[in-house]
Amino acid sequence: MATTRKPASQAAGGANGPAARGKAADKVFAERLARHRDELRWLYMELYDNGDMFAELCDGLKRFFDERDNKLKKLDLAREEAGAWYRATNMLGMQMYIDNFAGTIRGVEERLDYIERCGVNYIHLMPFLDTPADKSRSDGGYAVSDFRRVNPALGIMDDLAHLASKCHTRGISLCMDFVMNHTSDEHEWARRARAGEGEYMSRYFFVHDQGIIDRYTRDVPQVFPTTAPGHFTYLPELDQCVMTQFYPYQWDLNYRNPRVFNEMMYNFLFLANQGIDIIRIDAVPYIWKQLGTKCRNLKQVHTIVRMMRMIGEIVCPGIVLLGEVVMAPVEVAPYFGTVEKPECHMLYNVTTMATTWNTVATRDARLLRQQTDIVCSLPRSYTFLNYLRCHDDIGWGLDYGTLSTWGMAEVPHKTYLNDYFQGHTPGSVSRGELYNADPVTGDARFCATTASMCGIEAAGFEGNDEAMEVAIRKDIMLHAYMFTQSGLPIIYSGDEVGQVNDYTYKDDPEKAEDSRYIHRGAFDWQLAKNIDEPGSVQQRIFGALRALENIRRDEPVFSADADVRTKDYDDTSILWVVRSIGDRTLHAVFNFSDDAKTIWMPETATYTDLVSGETAELATIAMPSWGFAWMLR
Ligand code: GLC
Repeated sequence: MATTRKPASQAAGGANGPAARGKAADKVFAERLARHRDELRWLYMELYDNGDMFAELCDGLKRFFDERDNKLKKLDLAREEAGAWYRATNMLGMQMYIDNFAGTIRGVEERLDYIERCGVNYIHLMPFLDTPADKSRSDGGYAVSDFRRVNPALGIMDDLAHLASKCHTRGISLCMDFVMNHTSDEHEWARRARAGEGEYMSRYFFVHDQGIIDRYTRDVPQVFPTTAPGHFTYLPELDQCVMTQFYPYQWDLNYRNPRVFNEMMYNFLFLANQGIDIIRIDAVPYIWKQLGTKCRNLKQVHTIVRMMRMIGEIVCPGIVLLGEVVMAPVEVAPYFGTVEKPECHMLYNVTTMATTWNTVATRDARLLRQQTDIVCSLPRSYTFLNYLRCHDDIGWGLDYGTLSTWGMAEVPHKTYLNDYFQGHTPGSVSRGELYNADPVTGDARFCATTASMCGIEAAGFEGNDEAMEVAIRKDIMLHAYMFTQSGLPIIYSGDEVGQVNDYTYKDDPEKAEDSRYIHRGAFDWQLAKNIDEPGSVQQRIFGALRALENIRRDEPVFSADADVRTKDYDDTSILWVVRSIGDRTLHAVFNFSDDAKTIWMPETATYTDLVSGETAELATIAMPSWGFAWMLR
């Protein structure tokens, strides 16, 4: 009997049916894996020498690839094709705590119109995974007790995926923290380790030999010398110490154990599959420990980051790795890896940030010029995330070698900066507080919002209109300098409306010990209302930043491919940056001084002032104190 048989392709739903799509996807995965497999295996075996665990990892990658939503897979393909999508000059980031900004993840979704109005298309949601409810044991969410669960006070995982997809329809990307160095002591692994289960104890570092603890104490610098001194925490139930480089409730993970690496990679991919676009790898320089070293930036850290990069490129190539490397300048750039073997896509421009504030306090732009030159000498493909401040303190990681040749020695100079920014120095308009003042080394870091450091808090408190003028100008000028740099600018939520310090954290016993909360206050929506109030402080800052962002987005001279250099000028309080592409040249001039200046242009010629839009032939420009100009030739 004759039977009619459907062609195989039809039986499976045709050329576009699920089976055909599945096959095409498998091919994509196989190709990506093939591209990286040898190197990935090599590095994995070098660290772990464990073929079974490597095979398990590869199976895991396939599983997460299969589970990845088709829309995200499409975005991956589009981004693979587009290349470094995060380098576009229309990128503008904002970092925010969900509870401070809008209560919950759903609340953030409801506020997307405001975020868009700010011109923002990259949102960094500060840690929102499950963490101990007691804020004195959560480190602002950086003590994670479950990598697959959202902090119930903020919502559920589905809310996150929903927000991500809503953001994607508006062309907004989402960034989140991946805290890899440690877990909370309430994480299941920690609880089981505390109960004495060997399998889980091997995921952390347990020590009972005082000699070893002493050697760490000798060799390894302290992260929180005042708020959390020491590197180990004693656990009476085990009569042993566990390594805790950060707070005593943050247990350092042991990446010598391949189980830790594999599981953390699965957590990373799980989060990427919720629709996260940028993964900020928290405190990454610390993840490998070796007795007898400083336990920072060891070569194994780079091996792990390189493996992570390949794992991302195999499963979810649309995502970006942003390294949190708050280290000396020479330690930072290596986290980009090499052109052939890249590691992070983006890094924080931490030295430039700290050097910018150094310039504010000293009115001496020489170090900032040197720092700008260093950044400009790096390959253009290295993308930095530029910022004026973040959720953390500002550490004075400056080039003291150079400063000391100018008569500024490290310890007194740090004291000067901290005095200045606390407002203790005559003429200083800044307000803020110290963080982790170390009585032994004399070291201290500093906390405040951008607006308070610029004098907006002091001028508002004193009702001093003249001082407010200058403070607003300084705030806008510093943002203009941030926008002048190549890379991705990030605004801290609230800075767009000049929000000042919040001292109420002192009344909350769970926060009082951590002065970083001074600049992590709840977003003041009343201030946001004022952006429509002509002449208000908020409208002036918001309006100015929006104008600068639009110029940056549309003017080719801001392209990441432009040439950038600094220009010599016979006044150390002036910073002069030149950007050029094709026949367009931008002279970006910043006045870091309390005096008005006449700026001599390189030659009498026709320039367009990008801010006012005016074009004129001129030889000089008049610049108020703390003013700036973007002059295009
Ligand atoms: C990072 C975070 C910081 C946190 C630390 C420990 O440096 O930025 O806020 O305290 O990691 O996780």
